[in-house]
Amino acid sequence: MENTHPQGIYKFGMEAGLKATIKWIGIALGGLLGLLILSALALYGLGQMRLRKIYKIAGESVAIPVDAASLSEGKRIFQYRGCEACHGEQLQGLVYMDNPAIGQVITPNLTNGRGGIGGSLTDEDLIRAIRHGVRQDGTPLLFMPSTEFFYLSDGDLGKVLAYIHSMKPVDHAVPPSALSFTGFMVMNVTNAITFLPAELIPHAQPRPVVPEPGITPQYGAYLSLSCMVCHGAGMSGGEIPGFPTEWPAPPNLTSGPGGRLPAWGQAGFIELMRTGSKHGRAIGAGYMPWKSYRHMSDDELRAVYVDLMSLPPRDFGSR
Ligand code: HEC
Ligand code: HEC
Repeated sequence: MENTHPQGIYKFGMEAGLKATIKWIGIALGGLLGLLILSALALYGLGQMRLRKIYKIAGESVAIPVDAASLSEGKRIFQYRGCEACHGEQLQGLVYMDNPAIGQVITPNLTNGRGGIGGSLTDEDLIRAIRHGVRQDGTPLLFMPSTEFFYLSDGDLGKVLAYIHSMKPVDHAVPPSALSFTGFMVMNVTNAITFLPAELIPHAQPRPVVPEPGITPQYGAYLSLSCMVCHGAGMSGGEIPGFPTEWPAPPNLTSGPGGRLPAWGQAGFIELMRTGSKHGRAIGAGYMPWKSYRHMSDDELRAVYVDLMSLPPRDFGSR
């Protein structure tokens, strides 16, 4: 039967319109998905380029002492600069990060035991890694905080190398670090997290002269470079950009609003840095690495305090 009923024609028209709409939505979604895949691949490619970039760093050398006193100083520096926390007490290598969103970041076994790379690294290689965050083959290391260690004095670095050389071989095989696919995305869409410290280091600039050890704000500033990652370049604390949200906000270390250090005084500050606790308020070592800093001498901690108290008072969280 011929369909002449107006309603029939109308119905037929609806269906055609709907079909066309669905088709266009499909094309649009498909296009969007395609774009997403393309941009993900582009970000992945960009990440690979950043990871494989070759940094040409001129070889550097420092005097490496051999006396027992320098060696134990080397151990102490290795501890308070945080090397031990990330690399392990025996330099055997540790899992530094295991997060599916970013990947697995693993510190290598730095001894010359089985599975270790200590035997194949020259002193030049070690210095390049520590000060410049660059591997033997010129590619950048992941998360190794060389932005701080670029400023290590020749004297401190020499003692650290002496200590590394004195370590007994440990047999411990560790897999290489590897970013996950999403890790490549995160690396390229935010610079709140420093994946490749080598990108931020002024490699070719002359290193500033390190102040003489002493209870001075200048020497304190040299020692407290590592605090800034968490407490901010201005030491005023506040949420750490790029860190997991369960992290407590590091407090204000200046004498600005909310800062507790002026009231605690030097002795209270030292107590907290040594024991991780003050007035019964314990702070988690999983967050604030006082277990590394407790290895600083009294005079070193005094220097840090003097430096903090010499900073302009800042509002909490102005970083
Ligand atoms: C916050 C953690 C952390 C701290 C602190 C740290 N490192 Fe590392 N370090 C790493 C990671 C992670 C790697 C491996 C990176 C990779 O696999 O790309 C690494 C790699 C290295 C390497 C290996 C280079 C190579 O050729 O493979 C050396 C040497 C090294 N660190 C020495 C030190 C010394 C010495 C200190 C202290 C002055 C130190 N690190 C402090 C995390 C750290
Ligand atoms: C990896 C991040 C990190 C680094 C590095 C770090 N801190 Fe902290 N710090 C924290 C966090 C987080 C807290 C708060 C912990 C809590 O509330 O449990 C904290 C708390 C403190 C406190 C307690 C202050 C108060 O008012 O309660 C002091 C003092 C302090 N840090 C000093 C330092 C100094 C000095 C350095 C460097 C030598 C340093 N921190 C390096 C994360 C860090």
